[in-house]
Amino acid sequence: GLTDIRTLLLSRIRDVADYPEPGVTFKDITPLLADPAAFSALTDALASIAERTGATKIVGLEARGFILGAPVAVRAGLGFIPVRKAGKLPGATLGQAYDLEYGSAEIEVHAEDLAADDRVLIVDDVLATGGTAEASIQLIRRAGAEVAGLAVLMELDFLGGRARLEPALAGAPLEAL
Ligand code: PRP
Repeated sequence: GLTDIRTLLLSRIRDVADYPEPGVTFKDITPLLADPAAFSALTDALASIAERTGATKIVGLEARGFILGAPVAVRAGLGFIPVRKAGKLPGATLGQAYDLEYGSAEIEVHAEDLAADDRVLIVDDVLATGGTAEASIQLIRRAGAEVAGLAVLMELDFLGGRARLEPALAGAPLEAL
């Protein structure tokens, strides 16, 4: 059941103290990726969210959202679209800037990869402040597509990302495994 999967996934996430800076505990998913049973269980759980939400495309957020989202797309039989940090995509892009704790960042998508009748499930490893996810939701809407939902492995609930995303999600589900 879902409880067993959660226990398995949690057991394969490594807490790294004081990384990338003192006082921060980094959630390292590389042990999970290295365990085929855990990686497969995660892929299945995310693919079932894609099916449940009626998604027609999977968007993965650079970089760890690529690792998780691509196998989900294959398993669910859907196309995969990368949302990249600015300057990496060669074609005609749509860009969305967002604020970081210090400074700002920009993400981009190939505009032609999303169509007006698409329902997009966004996949990422971690929901922290929600800034990256919020910008990706805006990007998908500006491309004319609909957001079917946001699925993440982990939600760092003490950072308040869920509340921040509520207006942008406009009723679309946020699923954190
Ligand atoms: C991390 C994580 C999410 C984002 C969450 O990515 O993988 O994409 O931050 O943070 P937020 O909710 O506060 O926006 P990062 O920017 O470290 O990129 P990387 O995966 O390329 O290292």
